[in-house]
Amino acid sequence: MNNTDKVNHWEKVYATKSFEEVSWYQDKPSYFIDLINKLNLPKDVAIIDVGCGESKLLENLHKEGFHHLTGVDISNIAIEKNKKNFSHLQPAIEWIASDICLFSPNKNYKLWHDRAVFHFLRDPSEIEIYIQQTAKHIEKGGYLMLSTFSKNGPLKCSGLDISSYNHEDIALLFESNFEIIYQSYHDHETPFNTLQNFQTSILKRK
Ligand SMILES: C[S@@+](CC[C@H](N)C(=O)[O-])C[C@H]1O[C@@H](n2cnc3c(N)ncnc32)[C@H](O)[C@@H]1O
Repeated sequence: MNNTDKVNHWEKVYATKSFEEVSWYQDKPSYFIDLINKLNLPKDVAIIDVGCGESKLLENLHKEGFHHLTGVDISNIAIEKNKKNFSHLQPAIEWIASDICLFSPNKNYKLWHDRAVFHFLRDPSEIEIYIQQTAKHIEKGGYLMLSTFSKNGPLKCSGLDISSYNHEDIALLFESNFEIIYQSYHDHETPFNTLQNFQTSILKRK
């Protein structure tokens, strides 16, 4: 899939579906909020949600007092929806429309959260770019929280073929720059009452 097709796919999703109608919908991403809280991060650290879509993760972190928050998504429509829906939050969340492989921020992050985004990368060169992006933009001692479909999960997401991973795959891919500090498998229940098995890994930047 070339870049234009990718952007068009996601723009169509966010132009035609409400958040409650997509398989990845979560009313409150409690599982990830709990994991983040266990990291005991100071409230002023920089946190990025990569491929945020319309997730309520950043809104919830904002409620908990985190105030240096960034959401990035390839879909401009998703980003514009967030700007409108979360415009009341002060200090404001920073919303950026960008392909994560092309993203070039002028700062680094203490926590990089990715739920169901990395698994869309299938070309080895793109996967390598993503790995380099995490190494470049996560500060030393910072965290990568990476959640993808597992080997027991679906083969497609949003109608697109994905790459599935087990814990060992993630450890191997990121081992040059990160050490694993936590891993789990868990099911996400979609709004259509089906289960999707995810692997989640928390990696610490060396
Ligand atoms: C399955 S959704 C998950 C959304 C969100 N992370 C959540 O958990 O609710 C995948 C999201 O990744 C975004 N996305 C896909 N490829 C991307 C890329 N290369 N760069 C940035 N965002 C991307 C899509 O627009 C979509 O919002």
